[in-house]
Amino acid sequence: MLFFIFSCIIAFAGTVSPPCPLQIIPPKVVVGYGDSIAANCSCNYSLDQLENMGWESPNGAVSPTEGVTFLLLKANATEWTMEPKCYTNLLDGDQCLKRLTVTIYKMADNVSVSPQSQMGPMVEGKTYRMQCDIANVAPARHLSVYWHKRNKIVYTESFNKELNQYPVNLSSVFNLTAQRDDNAAQIWCEAKLNFGSSGPNLRSMKSRSHGVIVLYPPTFTQPEKETVTLKAGGKIDLNCTARGNPMPSCSWHPSDLILENNEKQPILTVTREGTYNCTVSNTQGTNTKYFIVTSAPRDHTVLAGLLGGFGALAVVLLIVGYFTLKPDGTFSFCNGQPTSSVI
Ligand SMILES: *[C@@H]1O[C@H](CO)[C@@H](O)[C@H](O)[C@H]1NC(C)=O
Ligand SMILES: *[C@@H]1O[C@H](CO)[C@@H](O)[C@H](O)[C@H]1NC(C)=O
Ligand SMILES: *[C@@H]1O[C@H](CO)[C@@H](O)[C@H](O)[C@H]1NC(C)=O
Ligand SMILES: *[C@@H]1O[C@H](CO)[C@@H](O)[C@H](O)[C@H]1NC(C)=O
Ligand SMILES: *[C@@H]1O[C@H](CO)[C@@H](O)[C@H](O)[C@H]1NC(C)=O
Ligand SMILES: *[C@@H]1O[C@H](CO)[C@@H](O)[C@H](O)[C@H]1NC(C)=O
Ligand SMILES: *[C@@H]1O[C@H](CO)[C@@H](O)[C@H](O)[C@H]1NC(C)=O
Ligand SMILES: *[C@@H]1O[C@H](CO)[C@@H](O)[C@H](O)[C@H]1NC(C)=O
Repeated sequence: MLFFIFSCIIAFAGTVSPPCPLQIIPPKVVVGYGDSIAANCSCNYSLDQLENMGWESPNGAVSPTEGVTFLLLKANATEWTMEPKCYTNLLDGDQCLKRLTVTIYKMADNVSVSPQSQMGPMVEGKTYRMQCDIANVAPARHLSVYWHKRNKIVYTESFNKELNQYPVNLSSVFNLTAQRDDNAAQIWCEAKLNFGSSGPNLRSMKSRSHGVIVLYPPTFTQPEKETVTLKAGGKIDLNCTARGNPMPSCSWHPSDLILENNEKQPILTVTREGTYNCTVSNTQGTNTKYFIVTSAPRDHTVLAGLLGGFGALAVVLLIVGYFTLKPDGTFSFCNGQPTSSVI
């Protein structure tokens, strides 16, 4: 009677009906397709207000039950769009209904980088489109794709679009502008379903990794012009080593100053002063380095020789130190073996 008056007051005051006092624990579940779902729906109505309560669900439904203030649901996640509902019927005719949020996931069947023909040699400075295909994954809005180059993530894509709950095939496109330092790098993509801290932590799926080959023109690792001093009666090595892919070949000019069979070697030993040009080339371009070889003045031969010697030693030490410390540069030597190979 008192409750009836209370209800009338609320109705006449025009207030909205009170929020549904049903509680579902847990309020949300994230499960794999086919997995079981369990939830507990409870209310704090007193039994003399309550007619019955039940669960609506495509499977595991619980028919209206009297004399309880909580009711368990045990269902299987066999319908992608399922949303079980817990309801109560009150003796005064009011109904209350609360939904259990169910997120059903499915790991991808396959993650692959395609088309594979694009993984042939790349040319420095050009942009290449790479595609990562993720087959049969759900739900798309929780998927993130990570592109890895060497061991760094270089691009991330999420799919926050209005995609439904059903499994879909997705693609992520990554545009790689080829750099010489990308030569020999491994590239792969990784797909992961992220549900945040409250959801399950699912393992990610990775594509096969693909080796990248980048073609680039020869460049010298030392200045393009070098002046060296020749000790009287001595000889000196000119180093024309260049970096490039494919491996550059070199030639020296003028050829009449060149000792026999030395014309195609990157290191040229000279005994006469003059300007020596070294031209390195590969399919991607050509570059020339100039060496100006001068003779030491006679008067100061010994001193100059000593200084020159120490200077050269210092330079050699510096160069050796620099290139020893430099990580994983690809140096191609004229007539040597290629340092990069097709992967
Ligand atoms: C369901 O919830 C009710 C109310 O919180 C509690 O009394 C009951 O023990 C719970 N049952 C289970 C199986 O968790
Ligand atoms: C149920 O409990 C909540 C707070 O936990 C309260 O606000 C609400 O009035 C209660 N409902 C009933 C019908 O007792
Ligand atoms: C859920 O699946 C299990 C195992 O397949 C089965 O035993 C059980 O009856 C199913 N439950 C429902 C509510 O369909
Ligand atoms: C995954 O896709 C790639 C490329 O389409 C294919 O070569 C491979 O066989 C597939 N693997 C599986 C397990 O389906
Ligand atoms: C995904 O791709 C596979 C193979 O190409 C196809 O059989 C399947 O129907 C596609 N699924 C969807 C949801 O488009
Ligand atoms: C990749 O390049 C294509 C066209 O070249 C462009 O449409 C697309 O937006 C680019 N994607 C990204 C992620 O930059
Ligand atoms: C020539 O220079 C390259 C680097 O520019 C170096 O790695 C190589 O050891 C040098 N060779 C000689 C014989 O000095
Ligand atoms: C070396 O190259 C320079 C610049 O191209 C040129 O002027 C010079 O004649 C060349 N010297 C020789 C010996 O080829």
